[in-house]
Amino acid sequence: MQTKNTITTFQQAKEDGRKLTMLTAYDYSMAKLVDESGVNSILVGDSLGNVMLGYSSTVSVTMTDMIHHGKAVARAVKNALLVIDMPFMSYQASVYDAVKNAGRLVQKTTAHAVKLEGGAEVCPQIKAITEAGIPVMAHLGLTPQSVNALGGYKVQGKTESGAKKIIEDATAVQNAGAFAVVLECIPAKLAKRITETLTIPTIGIGAGRHCDGQVLVYQDMLGMFADFKPKFVKQYANLGDVMQAAFRNFAEEVQTGNFPAKEHEYLIADDVISKLY
Ligand code: KIV
Repeated sequence: MQTKNTITTFQQAKEDGRKLTMLTAYDYSMAKLVDESGVNSILVGDSLGNVMLGYSSTVSVTMTDMIHHGKAVARAVKNALLVIDMPFMSYQASVYDAVKNAGRLVQKTTAHAVKLEGGAEVCPQIKAITEAGIPVMAHLGLTPQSVNALGGYKVQGKTESGAKKIIEDATAVQNAGAFAVVLECIPAKLAKRITETLTIPTIGIGAGRHCDGQVLVYQDMLGMFADFKPKFVKQYANLGDVMQAAFRNFAEEVQTGNFPAKEHEYLIADDVISKLY
């Protein structure tokens, strides 16, 4: 039997030097497969805007979208720590909005924690949500909800001032009460410095090998999403090709009459059928 993961598991892993694993999921059947694989955490990421809904950014994702997908994932999760993203504009405008929306997300979906993007500017929100009893995972570096302010999807923290800002933000979100922080698309040496400085775990995506854990979007790591392929993704399988071959095979078999075959059919007694009409 696998161990149930909590924020205490996360903290203990950091202290013991054990690496943490996290994958996204957005629906019941995938969440079940991911949960049963034994990863420490499942993220209902607002990346669902890109990979499930076909938006060009996560800016269009709503609370309704997150709750809809979060509920489906939660029905499958038995062992992983379930984290759900707070969508764009559900927390930025005020501390009040942040607490209300974090509460709504965990109440409606039964997720164990929320994740939100930003540093010092969202620390009042992190503090208030944490004080309301909801664990918060922070997210620094490339923060996709700010893609328009960042001028695109670019590696962050490459300049001295940029790197210093991310280090300061990392300390700020830890002091505000975050139990972990995602570091997205920053140089590996900067992520190493932050990981060594913080007492909470860092979870990297495009932040190199020194983070305390790693997260990937499942469509990226399974080769199911070809719209764009970030350099940091490792493709562990090419399910996109496998699925397309299966779809083509299905269409061909239907057209040639090979599917459905006898074993896929339901039976009716001949005397019943002979009495019809
Ligand atoms: O939305 C998401 O999937 C994320 C991960 C990339 C960390 O925030």
